[in-house]
Amino acid sequence: MALPKASVLLVLFAATALLYIGIIYIDQPVSNIHYGVEVAEGQYGVICNDCNKYCYTSPYNKKMVPLPEEELHQIGCEKRLPQALIIGVKKSGTTALKHFLSFHPQLASPVDEVHYFDNRYFMGIDWYISQMPYALRNQTVLEKTPRYFVWADAPERASKDLASDLRMIVVLRDPIPRAVSDFVHIQFKDNLKKIAENGGKPVKQIVLPLTAELKKVRDKQKVFDDIHNKAIGSSFYDVVDSFEESVIDPDGNVKGHNALVDTGIYVKYLRRWYEKFPRDQILVMDGLDLIKNPYKAMKSVEEFLGLNSHFTEKHFYFDEEKHFFCLALPIKACMSASKGRTHPEVSEEVMAKLREFYKPYDQELEELTGQTFSWVQRDY
Ligand code: A3P
Repeated sequence: MALPKASVLLVLFAATALLYIGIIYIDQPVSNIHYGVEVAEGQYGVICNDCNKYCYTSPYNKKMVPLPEEELHQIGCEKRLPQALIIGVKKSGTTALKHFLSFHPQLASPVDEVHYFDNRYFMGIDWYISQMPYALRNQTVLEKTPRYFVWADAPERASKDLASDLRMIVVLRDPIPRAVSDFVHIQFKDNLKKIAENGGKPVKQIVLPLTAELKKVRDKQKVFDDIHNKAIGSSFYDVVDSFEESVIDPDGNVKGHNALVDTGIYVKYLRRWYEKFPRDQILVMDGLDLIKNPYKAMKSVEEFLGLNSHFTEKHFYFDEEKHFFCLALPIKACMSASKGRTHPEVSEEVMAKLREFYKPYDQELEELTGQTFSWVQRDY
């Protein structure tokens, strides 16, 4: 009776093997990315089983180490001008949008804001290309610099230098919390500066690689704003200790020329972009949609950029501590502490003044775009 025993064992073995294959198969993620590893505090890298598909040894590591030169050529990785831009608006959710998008396998983005079409235009187009990531032919290169939206020359420069089918995304947020967020951000940076001046920790400042030759070009073109980047389009930041005093003058009027306020006159800036580009090449997003349902927002961006459908609802989860949606896959990652800061209370009187101030501009914005926005009060 040795034969049936052997068959039973064989059947059991085969069943176990099948079960394992099944588990392994089911467990495989759809993409080639497996899981994230924390490479330094708060920084994540991703281990993938087919990294040759990408131009970096670890595609989502902030440090982005490119493959060796020879391999880059073999695979067809190259640096090229962006085909898509996130042009603004500052403090409206642009970093979260780029953060989520950077996990799309068909997108390649520089880690930092490049600021080419605003205050680094004098560096020249070759410099701009050099700031781009290595990308495969089938990848879309996307750059984000929120200040492009308000920079007077940016639409003309981008239309002259980039492909005519360039896609642009602009995220808009209720201009009042946007202004508060901007205020908090500037206060935070100024505080850091003060700490540094008092012998505390040094402040990280952007240092441009300025050669003597570039310095000459810079001086000639006079396109530089000051080191704290206070100049913004035609308006300037005027920030004092309280938000109320920053946005309301001693006569009780809204300081419309203060960049804190002016940046929220979205219709004024959007018109400039519409003058240079067909409207269907600019996706205008409501920042609240990104906050409430990032999955749905990412679907609209994928469609707009002509990308494969990659994101699923499982890619996002609501983080109770952060109070925002965070990425769940391929790694768990929330935005840093500089996003989602606590805002100061704003008095009802100042809120009412700001609401009145923005109302006609917001209504014009809805007319111009043919879209409705979550914060707009409509009495028409
Ligand atoms: P607050 O910090 O004022 O809350 P930007 O990246 O353009 O500077 O915008 C910052 C804003 O992005 C944050 O402003 C926050 O409201 C918003 N945001 C949108 N989605 C977010 C997310 N998933 N996590 C954190 N902040 C997010």
